[in-house]
Amino acid sequence: MIIAPSLLAANFLNLQADCQMLNESEADWFHLDVMDGRFVPNISYGFPVIEQIRKTTKKLCDVHLMIEEPGKYAEAFRKAGADILTVHYEACPHLHRNIQQIKDLGMVAGVAINPHTPVQLLQDILANIDLVLVMSVNPGFGGQKFIPHSLQKIRTLRQRIDDLGLNVKIEVDGGVDPNNARALFEAGAHVLVAGSSVFQSADPKATISALKHIDKEVA
Ligand code: DX5
Ligand code: ZN
Repeated sequence: MIIAPSLLAANFLNLQADCQMLNESEADWFHLDVMDGRFVPNISYGFPVIEQIRKTTKKLCDVHLMIEEPGKYAEAFRKAGADILTVHYEACPHLHRNIQQIKDLGMVAGVAINPHTPVQLLQDILANIDLVLVMSVNPGFGGQKFIPHSLQKIRTLRQRIDDLGLNVKIEVDGGVDPNNARALFEAGAHVLVAGSSVFQSADPKATISALKHIDKEVA
């Protein structure tokens, strides 16, 4: 399992301490949520914050864009330090072009889908992308409840990816915790994003390790 803690739930008055904690932990990626107040009803943080976080770590920076017109900013996110750039299917009328741009900039290209968006709509883009981010809550806020139907979407998607022999990772984002992680692994997820379940736990590093080794847990 690849674990990508979401900094949205970190302590913004002391990001350095939380970045250090993640660096010492078994976390694989830093998940960075960017919201524009248009695609989603919330505004988070942008380039200056990402640039600073980037300086603290050698781990991959996984930037989840919940914004309209992501193509306008892809280059700036690359400069700020993004390794993985994920755009929303629902925000991109010219998705194929957006994906091409992200790859041309040397980043890993991801497509995120909202809870109501069928995985089948990815059929004609799947072979062109590196990652699908399945939203298991409605994007915009941390700390929401996991939507169980996401499991079925992951199963269907994983089957399709395997049938086609593609190298596409499935990332799940929203309401992920050590209680549902095993089911997500069994459904076929490769990457778990976790915000509040990590940062609000008594021992964040131990929670990250528990998520990381969920595949080895005896069922
Ligand atoms: C929500 C963001 C998530 C969020 C997850 O729109 O995309 O990455 O931080 O937070 P939790 O894990 O608390 O649901
Ligand atoms: Zn996210």
